Amino acid sequence: MPLATDDFLDIDDVTPAELDALLDRAAAMKAGETDPRLADATLGMIFEKPSTRTRVSFETGMTRLGGHAMFLGPDDIQLGHGEPLKDTARVLGRYVDGVMARLFDHEDVEVLAEYADCPVINGLTDEAHPCQTLADLLTIRETVSEDATVAWVGDGNNVGQSFVVGAAMAGIDVEVATPADYGMNPSVFDRAAEFGLDVEPTTDPEAAVEGADVVYTDVWISMGQEDVRDEKLAAFDGFQVNSDLLAGTDAKVMHCLPAHRGEEVTDDVLESDRALVWDQAENRMHAQNALLVELLGEE
Ligand code: CP
Ligand code: NVA
Repeated sequence: MPLATDDFLDIDDVTPAELDALLDRAAAMKAGETDPRLADATLGMIFEKPSTRTRVSFETGMTRLGGHAMFLGPDDIQLGHGEPLKDTARVLGRYVDGVMARLFDHEDVEVLAEYADCPVINGLTDEAHPCQTLADLLTIRETVSEDATVAWVGDGNNVGQSFVVGAAMAGIDVEVATPADYGMNPSVFDRAAEFGLDVEPTTDPEAAVEGADVVYTDVWISMGQEDVRDEKLAAFDGFQVNSDLLAGTDAKVMHCLPAHRGEEVTDDVLESDRALVWDQAENRMHAQNALLVELLGEE
C-alpha cells in the first residue's frame, strides 16, 4: 500500500491504517520478505548530529533492499560551509531517490521537504523522532501487546513526543511524567487526543509507572544541550528508571539509546530481562525498510 504522504516528518504524517500496514510490512520483512522496488535506489543521509543506530540501520537497510545510502556529515557537504539548506535540498533532489535528515531545528526538515523533489524522512530533530516510534511500536507489538500501557518517564522532547502520538494512533495507553520545566509541547496531547488518547501529564514518576506494562525513558541531556547539563541534572532528580521505581511492577523497560547509565537509567535495569532496548534498536532497520519501500518505491 503506497503512502498518501510525500514525506515522513513526524509519525502522524501517516494515517493509523497506514501505520498498522507499515508495522505488518516491517514484521514480514523482519521474517525475510523481500521487496525489489528500491534496487539501485540511492538514499542521501544528512547528519548535523552524531548517530549510531540511525546511520547504520538506514545504510544497512538500503543495502538489504538492493540500493545504496550516502552519508553526508556536516563537514562533508557545502551545507556545513554556508550553502543554504534550500539550495542543498533542490540539488540533492535532482540526484537521489530520497533524503533522510538528522537536524536540530524541526523547521529545517520542513524546508528540506519543501524544496527537495523527492521524499524526505526525519531521522530526528529537536521536536520529533518518528522512525524511532515505528521501531518502538513494532517492539511493543512483538514483546508486550497492543493493549499495553506505557509510562513515559523523563524528558518531554523528540523521542517522547513522537512516541505519544504514535502510541495514540496504535491504540496504546500512555502515562507521561516529566519535570515541570521539561514537559512535552501541549500540541502533542492535542494530536494524541485526535486519535482518542487522553493524556494527563504528571510530575510524579511513581504515579505514572503504577500499573504500566512498559516504562520508557530517554537521555536527560539531548544532543546540543550540553551547555545546560547542570540545570537539567538537577531538574531530573527523582526521574531515574531504577529498581526502586520499578519495584512492585513487572514492567519492561524501553530506551531509544544511547543510554547514559547512572543518569536516566541504571546499569542493572538495562542489563536485566526487563530491557527491550536491543529489540528496539534492531527494529529500527526493519521498520525503516518498510517505510523506505512504501515511501520511495513506485508500484
Ligand atoms: N536512537 C537513535 O536514534 O540512536 P542514534 O542517535 O544512535 O541514531
Ligand atoms: N533525545 C535524544 C535522542 C537521541 C536518539 C537526543 O535528542 O539526543
